[in-house]
Amino acid sequence: MNPGLVSLVGAGPGDPELITVKGLRALQEADVVLYDSLASPLLLDGLRAERIYVGKRCGVHAMSQSAIHALIVGLAKQGKRVVRLKGGDPFVFGRGGEEALALRQEGVPYEIVPGISSAIAAAAYAGIPITHRGIAESFAVTTAHRRLDEDGFAIPPYDDRTTVVLLMGVKTLPQWAGQLHELGYPGDLPVAFVTWGTTARQSRLVTSVGRCVEDAARHGLASPSIAIIGRTVLLAEQLDWFDPTTAVAPVDEDELAAQ
Ligand SMILES: C[S@@+](CC[C@H](N)C(=O)[O-])C[C@H]1O[C@@H](n2cnc3c(N)ncnc32)[C@H](O)[C@@H]1O
Repeated sequence: MNPGLVSLVGAGPGDPELITVKGLRALQEADVVLYDSLASPLLLDGLRAERIYVGKRCGVHAMSQSAIHALIVGLAKQGKRVVRLKGGDPFVFGRGGEEALALRQEGVPYEIVPGISSAIAAAAYAGIPITHRGIAESFAVTTAHRRLDEDGFAIPPYDDRTTVVLLMGVKTLPQWAGQLHELGYPGDLPVAFVTWGTTARQSRLVTSVGRCVEDAARHGLASPSIAIIGRTVLLAEQLDWFDPTTAVAPVDEDELAAQ
């Protein structure tokens, strides 16, 4: 039997309407959908496909990465049409590359359906353009999740025309804020945290490099959040447009796992 096609699909950042037309069609045609945290559950409603949760529950992975690889490969080799649904974009801190490599190694056909990353979408829903003529001409997306064997974070040296967007940075905030100081980021440079972006739970906290640790602690900053560091953050108030009360509520990981 020929293996079925596997689609690695970006679900977008939370608002279920932010999936691509191609991603939605793949979901509708799938025999099996493997999904994880942060994928909007509304995307799973009404599908004929079998659904398997492979994300994190209570902070513990439901399945190891190698077990996920084996599962996808096994299902595809049964001739099933598989969708691997991931939050945001599969290739932006989504381990999509590792899964594609595992499929390639096993001779399973696959396609990548990009998604809208939270790095851009949560900023846009908070009224923050990550580039803006005359203010920021480039942006860098990095992570503040660090392997134990790594020193520091991959934060670029300070450049006042570059917006830095940091993912997975809530727990390590004091460490990366310290690194910003060492790298010469000015204390008064604006920082915005956008939490649960594009959903009914979206909130925005505007602070600065010098005050972000204290302000985040005072407001009880929680995951999932992105941090946007740069002068375009100052446009947030003028460009504010999104009303979370009109949006769809996200479902947390435990609820997702139980679906
Ligand atoms: C494992 S990374 C996955 C990123 C994803 N592939 C993407 O492109 O958005 C998870 C991190 O993405 C960020 N994130 C994802 N969805 C978010 C949302 N709706 N609002 C704010 N941050 C979000 C948070 O920093 C979270 O810790």
